Amino acid sequence: MGSSSNGYSVFLLLFAVVVATASASNFYQDFDLTWGDNRAKIFNGGQLLSLSLDQASGSGFQSKKEYLFGRIDMQLKLVAGNSAGTVTAYYLSSQGSTHDEIDFEFLGNLSGDPYILHTNVFTQGKGNREQQFYLWFDPTRNFHTYSIIWTARHIIFLVDNVPIRLFKNAESMGVPFPKNQPMRIYSSLWNADDWATRGGLVKTDWSKAPFTAYYRNFRANSSTPTSSFPDSTFQTQELDSYSRRRLRWVQKNFMIYNYCTDLKRFPQGVPAECKRSRFNL
Ligand SMILES: *[C@@H]1O[C@H](CO)[C@@H](O)[C@H](O)[C@H]1NC(C)=O
Ligand SMILES: *[C@@H]1O[C@H](CO)[C@@H](O)[C@H](O)[C@H]1NC(C)=O
Repeated sequence: MGSSSNGYSVFLLLFAVVVATASASNFYQDFDLTWGDNRAKIFNGGQLLSLSLDQASGSGFQSKKEYLFGRIDMQLKLVAGNSAGTVTAYYLSSQGSTHDEIDFEFLGNLSGDPYILHTNVFTQGKGNREQQFYLWFDPTRNFHTYSIIWTARHIIFLVDNVPIRLFKNAESMGVPFPKNQPMRIYSSLWNADDWATRGGLVKTDWSKAPFTAYYRNFRANSSTPTSSFPDSTFQTQELDSYSRRRLRWVQKNFMIYNYCTDLKRFPQGVPAECKRSRFNL
């Protein structure tokens, strides 16, 4: 263990730092802060972004680029403490009345009570495809990775690389699928105490404001709409049997609402894409 091996370690360390920096996201480059004035902030040289909410306003940001298919990862650390009434929305959306949309929404709660992760998929302007989950960890203590894999065949929602929801292309059954309209990435932190926490029963405690959520390590592997063909790896990426087991584990143990089993809401029968199987696999 002489100085030359130390020198080599230092070299390796520097090399690792350079590589990490080169591949890291930069929020200045990839996103615009769109509302809430200085409640939305980028810091640490573009490595970290925060949104906050007070009684006067929430805040939000959106991607500069549009995406058509790809895998999009973001790490979020949600509003800690008493976050009841707050909603952190993180989603992809195209524009207009027949827009497509892929949603993660995090509904806050009283200290110690679980967040709800609310998901939805809109196609051609029509949503009503909610699935809700509890998480298997406290999403306010650390950063966790929330991802969307969007191909022409399916949309997969993942949490820390565990698939929680699969929305398959069911065009053969007459269900529109998002595949022509490029989407931007959006996020906002806002007050929804008229519905979010137990249907609006629990109100936002403004004495705890400002409420703050943090974002880091954005990564997107995507063909931009200008390139003629999406990356072929995304076209073939399927859930392997391990991922299917993980998906079933989440749906069995953490899913608290599934539109596909809400017969009261769909007395005429659940939507066509639900009919494939019990778990909507
Ligand atoms: C808040 O906590 C209560 C009690 O555990 C739970 O019923 C509810 O689903 C949680 N989430 C929200 C957003 O209300
Ligand atoms: C993007 O692709 C690169 C190279 O194939 C891979 O190392 C990286 O993990 C991918 N990122 C995402 C978010 O899938």
